[in-house]
Amino acid sequence: MFRMTNDARFWNRVARKYAADPISDEAGYERTLARTRDFLDGGKTAVEFGCGTGTTALKLAPFVKRIVATDISGEMIAIAREKAAAQGCANAEFAVATPDAAPWPDGTFDVALGFNLLHLVAAREATLGGVHRVLKPGGLFISKTPCLKEMNPVVRLAIPLMQLAGKAPYVSAFDAAELERMTEVAGFEIIERARHGTKGKDARPFLVARKV
Ligand SMILES: C[S@@+](CC[C@H](N)C(=O)[O-])C[C@H]1O[C@@H](n2cnc3c(N)ncnc32)[C@H](O)[C@@H]1O
Repeated sequence: MFRMTNDARFWNRVARKYAADPISDEAGYERTLARTRDFLDGGKTAVEFGCGTGTTALKLAPFVKRIVATDISGEMIAIAREKAAAQGCANAEFAVATPDAAPWPDGTFDVALGFNLLHLVAAREATLGGVHRVLKPGGLFISKTPCLKEMNPVVRLAIPLMQLAGKAPYVSAFDAAELERMTEVAGFEIIERARHGTKGKDARPFLVARKV
């Protein structure tokens, strides 16, 4: 059974505001979508973890057979379902789930997606292990992750204060090399690394990792 955590409570509380916020780097986001689409086709099944309000899943749904988009927050998933219904999207489904307790058998999906997620997870080993488990052999994990250690130190100093005020969730700090290493330790081979940002220094590496 799904257990409500502090993280879920935080994201439930901010879900409606998150849904209304504009994407900060639209061109960078479009690059990520375009490159992700290159790894999809109409025969593939995909799972997205930390899907938020489903924007990305709904944009990618036309390029796969089926996409299951998941999030720790029931409020995010409720909004995603509203959007899917409004758009008449028939091959995207939404579920409250986390990678470490994903309710699918081993080897279910061809592709797993995790955008702006891994820095928010304390149990990264179990999370990456869960992503690995639900992928078919040779399946791809496509991610983009803010690396706090590569950001302005002022941002890092502000986070604990924002957490105290209930304005920020759990966040962990690592750099791109550490992110790649933890992905590899979980049983993946990195086959592509890129930076898609178009607004100055980009601290969010885009990685494509293959299950080995
Ligand atoms: C910054 S938002 C990113 C949403 C979306 N992927 C995007 O790029 O706009 C992070 C999302 O991850 C979810 N989340 C946080 N911790 C999670 C976890 N352990 N497992 C699954 N989802 C989680 C939050 O509820 C939130 O919707």
